[in-house]
Amino acid sequence: MSVSKYKVKKMSVIFKTLTNITQRTLGSGEAALTVSPLGFGCMGMTHHRGPIKERASMVRLLKEAVDCGCTFFDTAEIYGPFNNEELVGEALGDNSSIFVATKFGHAFDVNEKPIYGALDSSPKRIRKVCEASLKRLKRDVIDVFYQHRVDPKVPPEVVAETVKDLVKEGKVRHFGLCEASAEVIRRSHKIFSVTVVQSEYHLMWREAEYKIFPTLEEFGIGFVPYSPLNRGFLAGSITPGTTFAAVNDNRSSLPRFTPDAISKNFTIVEKLKDFGNRHGLSVAQVQLGWALSKKPWIVPIPGTTRAEHMKENFASGCVLIDEREWKTLEDEIMRQPIVGSRYGKVEAAQVC
Ligand SMILES: NC(=O)c1ccc[n+]([C@@H]2O[C@H](COP(=O)([O-])OP(=O)(O)OC[C@H]3O[C@@H](n4cnc5c(N)ncnc54)[C@H](OP(=O)(O)O)[C@@H]3O)[C@@H](O)[C@H]2O)c1
Repeated sequence: MSVSKYKVKKMSVIFKTLTNITQRTLGSGEAALTVSPLGFGCMGMTHHRGPIKERASMVRLLKEAVDCGCTFFDTAEIYGPFNNEELVGEALGDNSSIFVATKFGHAFDVNEKPIYGALDSSPKRIRKVCEASLKRLKRDVIDVFYQHRVDPKVPPEVVAETVKDLVKEGKVRHFGLCEASAEVIRRSHKIFSVTVVQSEYHLMWREAEYKIFPTLEEFGIGFVPYSPLNRGFLAGSITPGTTFAAVNDNRSSLPRFTPDAISKNFTIVEKLKDFGNRHGLSVAQVQLGWALSKKPWIVPIPGTTRAEHMKENFASGCVLIDEREWKTLEDEIMRQPIVGSRYGKVEAAQVC
């Protein structure tokens, strides 16, 4: 066995042992779903993170994630569109021991091309997405079906009723919402138990803490931070001078990723690096360890296309740091002015 193979094996054993102890539960009662402490965000393998990665190696990486103990995978109809679900289906379709979450809610034209900035959570569309996603994912049931963005044209009650019916029909197991306000969560949950809410959350974007955490806590709903490494910035992989692919990388259009914003915000990465150096952690592990420390019902879903990053990220499930030390770090980051908003106008209009 080569040295690197030995290290990989050892890491997977460590991760498996620890995840057995620290599995996390999203949601409660009949809506509860127990998964590994970190999930895998599959989006960047085909969508928004630069050139589409070679299919066979991404299939291998997803299978390796399962071997490392990961049981929760995140995709969406809109990623690609469609090719991300197809990839997940090819890699994990026949694996009934893991959970796959996907999402509906964007509008498409008659040729099934996405209409930029338009939403569609009509019951007819939700049902259509469900059937098509099941085929692409090569599964009999969708483990978590999220509304990707709240559609102002469709009352939350109507969306929740539709998902409730899909659950009754055995096509969906759990209901999730993305970037939903406390009011939408409350109204949806009244009709059908919400298992999990997914919103952007990391040390540079903490609005969820005061906007929705009290509601999640009240109803026993879980939380999945998306882009938990702030799209690579809080993993230290983006430095002043980094440029992004002009095609298929949305970071080139986000105000927080202009050259000026990257340079000015880089102090934050340096603070995470200093903290990590004191504790033997990488920048990504500090960010993910912090998120995991906030609540026992949080399951971050970092995305990666590299095995070494995946293992580094999963090892964050083992980070044990005193609450006071995390508080000192987050207070220090809070004092930093953050340059650039997280989304442009069109995307910002769709989040709570
Ligand atoms: N619900 C929503 O609206 C929504 C929106 C956005 C994303 N999401 C979900 O959230 C998932 C993750 O989000 P994301 O991909 O935007 O951002 P992310 O997980 O915050 O960051 C991903 C980026 O970080 C890099 N990275 C990962 N681990 C690293 C490490 N240890 N060291 C250095 N660099 C590292 C990756 O590059 P490498 O490939 O080189 O590792 C990739 O470019 C997505 O896959 C998707 O499932 C949901």
